[in-house]
Amino acid sequence: MTNDDIPNLTAFDDAALDKAFGAVEQQAKSDAAAIDGPQAVEAFRLRWLGRKQGLLKEISTRWLKASPVEARKPVGERFKTLQALVEGLLEQSSVTGPTDAALAAEAIDITLPGTRRLTGAEHPITRTLNEITRVFAALGYSVGVGPEVETDFYNFESMNFPPGHPARDTQDTLVVANQDRRPLRDRLLLRTHTSPVQMRTMESQPPPVRIIIPGKVHRNDAQDATHSPIFHQVEGLCVDSNITFSDLKGTLDHAMKALFGSSVKTRFFPSFFPFTEPSADVQISCIFCGGNGCRKCKNSGWIELLGCGMVDPAVFAFAAQKQPAYDPKKISGFAFGMGAERIAMMKYGISEIGQLYAGDMRFLGQFV
Ligand code: PHE
Repeated sequence: MTNDDIPNLTAFDDAALDKAFGAVEQQAKSDAAAIDGPQAVEAFRLRWLGRKQGLLKEISTRWLKASPVEARKPVGERFKTLQALVEGLLEQSSVTGPTDAALAAEAIDITLPGTRRLTGAEHPITRTLNEITRVFAALGYSVGVGPEVETDFYNFESMNFPPGHPARDTQDTLVVANQDRRPLRDRLLLRTHTSPVQMRTMESQPPPVRIIIPGKVHRNDAQDATHSPIFHQVEGLCVDSNITFSDLKGTLDHAMKALFGSSVKTRFFPSFFPFTEPSADVQISCIFCGGNGCRKCKNSGWIELLGCGMVDPAVFAFAAQKQPAYDPKKISGFAFGMGAERIAMMKYGISEIGQLYAGDMRFLGQFV
């Protein structure tokens, strides 16, 4: 029944009124019986009691307001009864709610197992970078970042690898094509280490500096079980007055114990990097055999883990071009750099570096 189905009354005697109102009451009752849920209750309310478009409003207009004066009373009484009936029906269905059939249709089996949502987890490399960063953050280091596409100047020249110097050959470099028309120092390459961020940091602030720099680096290395052309490093730089090699040793010894356990020992071997002097390689006592000698440490009891050294005065001289306070006569500092994959592989017993990049959920799922 729509509003258009409400006829105009032509007769107003009792029989005609009973018939007209009776039909509408019947309709209201059958509408109410068909209610099968909260939405249907609302639809019923709108259809019958809607203030502008409801059926009762239409009946009031067509029958009550249009009736001749002498019929006002009987029409009005019947209209009130109808209104009470509709309101009663609405109240009942709101209270009783949906029918059994509707409930059955919506029923769920609460004994079924739920849907498990996969939660994300840190990738083992990210986790390792964060762990190392946290150790140094606790020592008061702040975190720095720099671009992965770097200039020849920051990656090499300012780190004291002069143009044409053979030390450049130790870092097989991926260079960006079509840069030949630029001056060498501006040519772009994929950074081979995080050390250029040392220079970017010093150029942007005077000493003292304590900064830790986790990041991605690239080298033109063939992939094998332990090498990948893309890998990650964590760089550290500390510059202040009176920083000595003892500070370097104490800091790295503490960091290795924090990362691998307090029983780990460290030892420092002379090494070479263009940007540090003196330079050292740091070895830790083998975490697999405790230093007794095993396959993992090639029976030496020691595992080489990172490079470090005292910042070379030539590096400070480059920094001093922008920040004169980096005067090697007044300040000193140390730097270190370590490979995150190597540390992750040791900590988590991973034998193939490629597993870290394969995106295989069977592998990654172990680190949730
Ligand atoms: N940048 C060096 C490398 O990638 C590591 C290093 C950093 C060594 C800082 C000394 C000081 O091999």
